[in-house]
This record gives sequence, structure tokens and C-alpha cells, in this order.
Amino acid sequence: MARFLHLSDLHVVPEGQLVSSQLDTARLLRLAIDTLTTRLDAIGPVDAVLVTGDISDDGSTESYEIARRDLMRLGHRLLVVPGNHDGRETFRAAFSDLPEMRPTGLIDWIADIGDTRVIGLDTLIEGKGGGVLRDESLALLSEALSTAGGRQTLVALHHPPLQTGLRFMDAIGLENPNALRIVLDQHDAPVRVLAGHVHGVYHGLLGRHPVVTAPSCCSAFALDLREDAPVGFMTGPTGCALIDTGAGGVWTELPLRHGEGPFRF
Ligand SMILES: [Fe+2]
Repeated sequence: MARFLHLSDLHVVPEGQLVSSQLDTARLLRLAIDTLTTRLDAIGPVDAVLVTGDISDDGSTESYEIARRDLMRLGHRLLVVPGNHDGRETFRAAFSDLPEMRPTGLIDWIADIGDTRVIGLDTLIEGKGGGVLRDESLALLSEALSTAGGRQTLVALHHPPLQTGLRFMDAIGLENPNALRIVLDQHDAPVRVLAGHVHGVYHGLLGRHPVVTAPSCCSAFALDLREDAPVGFMTGPTGCALIDTGAGGVWTELPLRHGEGPFRF
């Protein structure tokens, strides 16, 4: 088994700046990591921290320096894929010391953590909100699945291969979810697809393969499925997720704000 903390959509900007004139995302990340550091005693050991993109909001070097400094405070191995707000080259430079990071090209990788294979896929189209899986990434995925040897397998990407019903987010979703499904269908490896981008928890199926998205550390989108739903974000709920790939292990959400307690029954 292996246990992963799954963070997504940090949207960090340089100190002194706010996202959309509202969110001090550098501060929100600092507070999130403070909370998680405290909670790790109760949650138990974690083998790696997986971050599915939009680590930065503006792709700036300074935003990555801030994000990286805070993520490193968790004291665990980091696995990162870029999202639509990231800049591929500044992202690569910020995390160039991670063993999976390639010096050029797409930021796709394979990492074996305990008995679990994690496959990170780069869906970033710079300058666009939507994402795509290119042939090169799908080939790497196919190769990684065929050599997985029956291991539990996680596929991590920013854009989920799901329609959430949030119209303004579905409009900037993954262009080719079927291409992903076709590759997954060709292999027997038990696969879970993990994504971000939609700033909330959505469970769904891509064919027979479960897909789940993690909440964002900084903001959320209200569940409003009307055609004229207002476009915009909420300041919460924020959170992340914990994934245990062992037999009987579960996926659970970790909210970043808690109620009072525990009180005796
Ligand atoms: Fe995104």
C-alpha cells in the first residue's frame, strides 16, 4: 500500500498580490500547510504528496518559490503535474530537482511509491484554460500500464476526464477524455484517475475506471447546474484529499477548516 496526500489548485501569486482582487493565495497555502502539518500526527504516515496542477496562478518564478517552500514543509516526497495556470518552463525549473522531472518536453512521469505506480500526465496548453492529452503522453501511459505488473495504479492529471455540470468549467475541460479511456481499457491494471481543476470533489467513471477530483486549497465553485449559473468562485470550502491504495484503503477528503470538538457522545 501507499498513502498520498492529494493537493490541487493552489493558485499561488507573488507576495503582496491577490488572485482576482480577493484571494491571498500565498497566505492560504501557508495556512493550509500549517493545518496539514498539525493533522499529519492524526492522519498517520504519508508516502508522498501529489499536487495536480495550478500550483501557480500566474506561472511566475516567485509564485513557485513560495509554493515550493511551503510544500516542502510537509517533509514528504513531492509529485507534481502542471495545470492550465502553470507555465511549463517556470514550473519545470522550480521542481527540476525532483527525480521524475524531465529536462525538456512535456511534464509526464512515472513514479513507483511503495507498491503503487503513479503516472503523471501533462495536459497544459499554454495560454488556454482547457487541456489535452497528446499522443506522446498517451504512449507513456500505455507503456507505464503495461509494465505496472498488477500494481495499484494512480493516473494524475490536472483536467479531469469528467463533465461536472459546472458549465463554465466544463467549457475548459479535457478535450479528449475518450483517448484516455481507450488506453486505460487496453490494460488490466487497477487504475484510479486523480485530477483537480474543478475546485471540488467529483466522483465519476471513465468507462470502468473511477475518477475523483480533489478540492482546491484556496477556493471553490458553487454547485450551480443552471444554464445561467453565475461565473465565479467561492472562498470555500477548501481542502485536499488522502488516498490509501492498500486493500480496504479509502479515499477521503480533508477539509482545511474544522468545526469545534470532538465532544463526548
Ligand atoms: Fe485549472
